[in-house]
Amino acid sequence: MPLLPGSSDDAIAQAARELAAGELVAFPTETVYGLGARADDDAAVAKIFAMKGRPAGHPLIVHVADRVGAERFGVISRLAERAITAFWPGPVTVIVRRVQGAGEAAAGGQPTIGLRSPAHPVAHALLAAAREAGVPGVAAPSANRFGRISPTTAAHVEDEFGDVPLLVLDGGATRLGIESAIVDCSRAKPVLLRPGVLTRERLESALGAPLESPDQAAPRAPGTLASHYSPKAKLRLMPTHMLRTALEVLGSDPLKLAVYSRSVPSGVATGVRHRRMPARPEQAAHELFAVLRELDNDGVQLIWVEEPPPGPEWDGVRDRLSRAAAAT
Ligand code: TXA
Ligand code: MG
Repeated sequence: MPLLPGSSDDAIAQAARELAAGELVAFPTETVYGLGARADDDAAVAKIFAMKGRPAGHPLIVHVADRVGAERFGVISRLAERAITAFWPGPVTVIVRRVQGAGEAAAGGQPTIGLRSPAHPVAHALLAAAREAGVPGVAAPSANRFGRISPTTAAHVEDEFGDVPLLVLDGGATRLGIESAIVDCSRAKPVLLRPGVLTRERLESALGAPLESPDQAAPRAPGTLASHYSPKAKLRLMPTHMLRTALEVLGSDPLKLAVYSRSVPSGVATGVRHRRMPARPEQAAHELFAVLRELDNDGVQLIWVEEPPPGPEWDGVRDRLSRAAAAT
């Protein structure tokens, strides 16, 4: 599996050629690494579903170079316009009505489509070069097998797909670490389908309206399945006091246990792996998936995680941890 430096113009040109030819390319964004295919080619998009083992009909996000690129796929509503103006390029995906006949497979056949212009320089260079090569947009879910932890480094992508031929652009560790916020802008009121790093407050102030919670009528989003981001180990999310008690009860039981907590629990039995959760939510988001993957690869059976603090700035991290806990 060729791993090429994302900073190299030759590598970008080669990746753009692959995309134009209907092949898959893994690339960094500011959130997580994506597994991309040209969004205007249903056969190319089908390869993503096959490689990830993702059930068909689950819509993918289409990545575009800019707002103009977005219009090829979606009808930009007033709400979407506001989000795009405020946050693109950046970690916000808007769901809008789909332009008829555009990105059919990428949208899983739905009448809406998810659009995002990523802020990572490598992603941006790739999208620009791809556009030059006739590729209007790149459908890309996170570059992991279905239901597993999203990759935040090129090595994580190799961890997931090392056994298959795939061009991977290496852009180092991603800056934000959890996936984009997804806002449904296709109806009268904006709905937050998936929290990201940007706070609800910042999204609402740009949208000029309060964010509703998903209801029955909201577009389906598999990233919003309760069971997602699952490590192989069992992950338990616990309030601080419960974690303390659980560790006391554990005593010197030789469980293969890892603890991820803000405070260093006293009296942790020897042999228990401990990783300290950063006090700042941006830092915690940045390292979250890498830490879970590392502990998982260490072969622990249990990962006990201290619940993040209650503030809205922790919504994204709390969301990913809850799903990981629900899945195991
Ligand atoms: O940060 C991100 O968003 C990353 C990077 C690679 O850009 N991508 C990502 O893609 O997380 P993925 O496929 O893992 O998550 C896509 C999410 C899913 O929950 C999907 O259901 C939702 O976006 N989505 C896409 N199109 C949609 C649509 N038309 N309606 C509702 N949800 C949609
Ligand atoms: Mg994903």
